[in-house]
Amino acid sequence: MKVFVTRIIPDAGLQLMKDAGIEIIQWTEKRDLTAEELIHHCKPADALLSAGSNRIDKSFLNACSHLKVISLHSVGYDKVDVAAATALKIPVGNTPGVLSDATADIAFLLILATSRKAFFMHNTIIGGKWGFFEPTANLGIEIRNKTLGIFGLGKIGFELASRCASAFHMKIIYHNRNHNERAEKELNAVWVSFADLLEQSDVLSVHTSLTEQTTGKFNKAVFVKMKHTSIFINTARGAIHNEPDLMDALQKGVIWGAGLDVTDPEPMQSNNPLLQMPNVSVLPHIGSATEETRNAMAVIAAENVISGLKGERLPFPVNPEVWEGDES
Ligand code: DGY
Repeated sequence: MKVFVTRIIPDAGLQLMKDAGIEIIQWTEKRDLTAEELIHHCKPADALLSAGSNRIDKSFLNACSHLKVISLHSVGYDKVDVAAATALKIPVGNTPGVLSDATADIAFLLILATSRKAFFMHNTIIGGKWGFFEPTANLGIEIRNKTLGIFGLGKIGFELASRCASAFHMKIIYHNRNHNERAEKELNAVWVSFADLLEQSDVLSVHTSLTEQTTGKFNKAVFVKMKHTSIFINTARGAIHNEPDLMDALQKGVIWGAGLDVTDPEPMQSNNPLLQMPNVSVLPHIGSATEETRNAMAVIAAENVISGLKGERLPFPVNPEVWEGDES
């Protein structure tokens, strides 16, 4: 059995697959595969382990309908046409849970960095502008005792809320389709309508997945309903906010600041005006980028491949419907 792996991933995952007798073909060039190259490399493979930005769309799936499993080295699966994979009975796996802490840490870092203009102030040193002390210049704002609003309170949102509640005594409000009982019980989190989330949050952090419903959700019409003093944080997917609208809201003081680990598009161009704004902190999508988390993701991705190639249910399936009606 062969697996095509689209990036160099941690050895922990590769070794598991080798030990299971799977032949690994790995893309090692430091550029994205084209759609044609991805199909070409998957044709002789039995499984695909996809890390990075390749689109697993209908045309790929139709060309590679022989694949026994598609395993993502990510929790997000917005690059995959899951309905089309399900129709072809191809199981798709992801890596939930293991990146919640690392991603929540990055959201927490962005809240602090933004509220204290840390990235901008760091750049003033690099630019030779650490000179005359002005007591009223470049002041940040404090988040202690303020309200954290979470849009999409799942595992990552819970971890962020827990950090903010314990370190800064922040009040937690959230908007989800369903109530998060654990957060309500353990963090005194309060479910609010989307309108109330916008109106009451001092820091509003996005932790939902990218879907048709959430694409462009944070746009001009939404930003105007937020507090002028609020900070918008997005560590989920860049396309959930409308970037020109966000820039406009920041430039006009409609909201106070923004911290982004995800942008639209990615990578962000180096001349993007957001990078020059004092109240904006941008990181290049490093939410899961720790040794511990990337190793754990590689292990789960490998386990999904191994199970899929054995024809077994994946430990972490995105589309469990593919086994509907199975005896197992
Ligand atoms: C994920 O796993 O979805 C992270 O955003 C890394 O891509």
